Amino acid sequence: MTSTAPVPSPTQDELKAQVGRAALDYVVKGEIVGVGTGSTVNKFIDALASLKGEIRGAVSSSVASTERLRALGIPVFDCNEVEELAVYIDGADEIDGRGYMIKGGGAALTREKIVAAQSRRFVCIADASKLVNTLGAFPLPVEVIPMAARRVMRQFARLGGLAQVREKDGVPLVTDNGQHIIDVTGLRITDPLGFENEVNQWPGVVTVGVFARQRANVCLLGTASGVRTLQFD
Ligand code: 5RP
Repeated sequence: MTSTAPVPSPTQDELKAQVGRAALDYVVKGEIVGVGTGSTVNKFIDALASLKGEIRGAVSSSVASTERLRALGIPVFDCNEVEELAVYIDGADEIDGRGYMIKGGGAALTREKIVAAQSRRFVCIADASKLVNTLGAFPLPVEVIPMAARRVMRQFARLGGLAQVREKDGVPLVTDNGQHIIDVTGLRITDPLGFENEVNQWPGVVTVGVFARQRANVCLLGTASGVRTLQFD
């Protein structure tokens, strides 16, 4: 009698690679593509190298993604050189069933929101662990002007959140924009649009990591049984 060995489940890294490759189908040939930041996007960038002769280049949302794109020979344009992008491809820390997201785990949220706002379509690529019912279990990143950090942290405390300044090597992390990040736990964000609108008004907030106005139009979700496509419009 022969026994069949169980098929091992794909690792999170393999799921990320799977959706990174799947996102190539959304890249518009002959155009410039918007590129996000993070480990899932790195898989997309690596896959994008196979199309580099067929696109004009990319607009990038971080120094890290710019370096990776250029190292693979993909031209990177400044955001100001480009009027509108057909598509923006990026990861998420959480995404709900309406395409609302928490982003900024890689501290690139401000540039990510700018490039997303300049794009007609947001394609989110994520492994299945990122799909949630309600946003907020992942600590919410907020980019702040350093002098406002304590004040913004107190405002989150009034909403029941516990905020702390993100550190790197024992000192506050400095973003590509020269600002700081605070991460807020203990929030349950049931109205992402209202929440984003409110926090955006607080003095000293550069960008809140809730992407409701710039929500995803499509999510390619990496699962053990293949890529699941969630359409939000
Ligand atoms: C960076 C981001 C990333 O898209 C988010 O953190 C997901 O990253 P990863 O693909 O590494 O899980 O918002 O600011």
